[in-house]
Amino acid sequence: MRISVIGCGYLGAVHASAMAALGHDVVGVDVDPVKVAALQRGDTPFFEPGLPELLTEAGATGRLRFTTDMDAVAEAQVHFVCVGTPQQADSYAADVTYVDEAFRAVGRRAAVGSVVVGKSTVPVGTAARLAETLAREAPGVHLAWNPEFLREGHAVDDTLHPDRLVYGVDGSEGDIATAVLDEVYAGQLADDVPRIVMDYATAELVKVAANSFLATKISFINAMAELCEVAGGDVTLLADAIGRDPRIGRRFLDAGLGFGGGCLPKDIRAFMARAAELHAEPAVSFLREVDSINLRRRERMVDLTAGVLDGRPLAGARIAVLGAAFKPNSDDVRDSPALDVARKLADRSAHVVITDPQAVPNARRRFPDLRYVQTAEEAVQGADAVLLLTEWAEYRALDPDKTALLVASPRIVDGRNVLDPQVWRAAGWVYRALGRR
Ligand code: UDX
Repeated sequence: MRISVIGCGYLGAVHASAMAALGHDVVGVDVDPVKVAALQRGDTPFFEPGLPELLTEAGATGRLRFTTDMDAVAEAQVHFVCVGTPQQADSYAADVTYVDEAFRAVGRRAAVGSVVVGKSTVPVGTAARLAETLAREAPGVHLAWNPEFLREGHAVDDTLHPDRLVYGVDGSEGDIATAVLDEVYAGQLADDVPRIVMDYATAELVKVAANSFLATKISFINAMAELCEVAGGDVTLLADAIGRDPRIGRRFLDAGLGFGGGCLPKDIRAFMARAAELHAEPAVSFLREVDSINLRRRERMVDLTAGVLDGRPLAGARIAVLGAAFKPNSDDVRDSPALDVARKLADRSAHVVITDPQAVPNARRRFPDLRYVQTAEEAVQGADAVLLLTEWAEYRALDPDKTALLVASPRIVDGRNVLDPQVWRAAGWVYRALGRR
């Protein structure tokens, strides 16, 4: 099929490449000429494992191109809108300006009979509003909402092998849009990926409900971590034990510094804002607590760091920060808990030295006044305390004996509960963690 993808960020670049790899003829359009030039060269504008290979593979077929020229969408039978919906600067609500602009631009160019497919995460009610606009301004063009559940760091696999496909369609034209999406995803459907067809509002809610549930699961275990800290328990053992119950499950019960990134924090806030507009604020008021628990972990990390210094003031102490990305296998620092903690420590006059395998350039752009180094060995050099804040494999594999030779004082705070306390203590380290002794 001929497909256009509007917006070539994390979501769009991966979706465009995956669609081409699956045999479709794809044009990716973005307003950013730098991003488009990179993608045209086969370079990824951000770090995503497997994406360079997928881009090369798809590019070699001649079925994938990128452009800044919106007119290129005119030939496509299906248009995927993959632009961002960031949090508004002055409120919790999502900014849907880019979605509106993309729909306006596509609507002017889309052929009669083609389908515009929204993939962006939007406040419930957006699709119905856009359907009305399309009906007025682009009669004969159909609309579907097809939320995306990919995780950064696993985006390629999640797109090629999704655990479900959700189609939000309108009753009267739903069969047409469903048939077109079935053709787009024929490969996945042949692999028995479940497909669930529903109305627009439910499809929009599925995405925010999924992210709210995941955020709640993380904040639940972090709330248990707070209790373990005061009661002398161990949250990792608690998670292992409750996670054995298949109704609960062990995944997404890793206690620590909590969630960040471009999705979970802003999606739960946008959900609260939208619920308030719909006079249903109490239904999701628990998300305010989910957000608070999450942000409290960052404060607690600062306190633990101050505590581990054994009476020395935080001001002037040399603190090695391992990790700046919001999670491993990503260079994304949007709402990164690690970088936030580094910022808070620097604001309290600690001498912070940050490292990350991929995210240093983005972190430096965000906080140019902080100090960055390339490797963990450089970061820990002469440190009064080492903080593990993003659980990259290379930090999990740090050797306590070798690292002890580099630091000024062997003290480590494990913000992600990924090190073995016994091993580190046996090597002479003072070991502290969030949610366990
Ligand atoms: C999330 C959703 O998982 C994905 O389905 C959706 O499409 C986009 O939002 P992503 O933001 O890429 O994906 O990251 P995810 O793997 O969900 O992690 C989010 C944050 O939660 C990270 O900061 C991670 O460190 C943290 N996390 C995750 C925990 O603190 N504990 C856990 O047990 C799991």
